[in-house]
Amino acid sequence: MKQTLENLISAREIDQRLTELALELNKDYEGKTVSLICILKGGIMTLADISRKLTFDVEFDFMDISSYGDRMESSGIIKINKDLDTSVTGKHILLVEDIIDTGRTLVYVVEHLRMKRPESVKVLTLLSKPSRRIKGGITPDYVGFEIPDAFVVGYGLDYAQRYRNMPGIAALSMETPES
Ligand code: IMP
Repeated sequence: MKQTLENLISAREIDQRLTELALELNKDYEGKTVSLICILKGGIMTLADISRKLTFDVEFDFMDISSYGDRMESSGIIKINKDLDTSVTGKHILLVEDIIDTGRTLVYVVEHLRMKRPESVKVLTLLSKPSRRIKGGITPDYVGFEIPDAFVVGYGLDYAQRYRNMPGIAALSMETPES
């Protein structure tokens, strides 16, 4: 299958947008300690880059989950491979996500985190595909870019574990030999 990439968002644009979001976060969380929670592996670039622009105290923690579905769409049936190492009871949580597509993964993860009785849970996502959202989904509190319904890779996002190290975001299309 031939894979074609079309550049959508440059590394510079990502950096500029993260700076804007960090200004907002620095106001909203001034004087607080916030647990930044990243779902492996897609969110690591966003976590690494935005956290260095934050002026309040932060802690890092990571979750690893498997979502049953095909390679291009999640099913909402989720298995937790690795839960948090630290206690978040009574703490402010900011979940740092790479992308919200249908929102199924997030509904599950936010519910799981709320059961740990944190002080607050908010969601930051670098990318959001609003046209794909299912009913009853979670609305993110901080969004980097709203994008159309395309499968995207780069800046942490993969297709079959490839392309995570691209500095910008690109839309990936696949052509079968006969198409
Ligand atoms: P959701 O549960 O449908 O919102 O899907 C969320 C997860 O699916 C993301 O955290 C990604 O791992 C993956 N995903 C959704 N859309 C894309 C995409 O366009 N490129 C790469 N991964 C994606």
